Amino acid sequence: MRVGVLQFKPIRGDRESNFQKIKKPCKGVTLDLLVLPELATTGYLFRSKAELAPLAEAFPGGQTSGFLTELAGTIGGHVVCGVAEKEGEILYNSAVLFSPQGHLGTYRKVHLFDKEKEVFEPGNLGLPVFDLGEARIGMMVCFDWIFPESARSLALAGAEIICHPANLVLPYCPRAAVTRAIENHVYYLLADRIGAEQSRGEELRFIGQSRILGVKGEILASLEKEEALITAEIDPSLAGDKHVTPRNHLFHDRRPDCYRLG
Ligand code: ACM
Repeated sequence: MRVGVLQFKPIRGDRESNFQKIKKPCKGVTLDLLVLPELATTGYLFRSKAELAPLAEAFPGGQTSGFLTELAGTIGGHVVCGVAEKEGEILYNSAVLFSPQGHLGTYRKVHLFDKEKEVFEPGNLGLPVFDLGEARIGMMVCFDWIFPESARSLALAGAEIICHPANLVLPYCPRAAVTRAIENHVYYLLADRIGAEQSRGEELRFIGQSRILGVKGEILASLEKEEALITAEIDPSLAGDKHVTPRNHLFHDRRPDCYRLG
């Protein structure tokens, strides 16, 4: 399976330019699965619901759904993209899954970061897993990484690949992602962004450290601040073997009777 991660600098509030920025590097590229950053088509730093609402959309149904369906057709595979989702008056920081036939699924960010709590509602769809035929995938969005339960829940539900749209500001996630891949024996596609955004005297700088990680945490491809598409060949069946030694199994050796997870 050929997978890709696109890192770029979204332009806040300019959906059409972001479509073009995503489309250009994907022209002539064939991929089974492509992951794009968090809020890739809208930008990140919105300070109120009123500011973001005009850019948010229902999925499926809006302009971004049309764009992502077309993009999936261009690459001949599936696309995971971070989007601003609107359901009635409620906004979610979501990741959506598209095939060339259209929308296949939505994940709504469960763990909101900092001032996102003033704009978005926390996700209410759990952590679903989707069967693409060639692999089962799960989605997380950015700050979900700091809760190991997110990746563990996806892996226990059968995800072989974790697709992780992000706009990273803290420096730790690329290292934590290696651990998440190792402890769950899953592939990990971390799609980050570069650049900075300013709003009302506040500035956020994004670390631009996208990764494609193998099931043992090996770095198959990585980016440091550049705008680029990285790709790798992976074998999702490797994620089916959860043995660490012949006598140790990542799932069967768990001891939920000893854990206090609340
Ligand atoms: C983040 O969750 N976007 C830091």
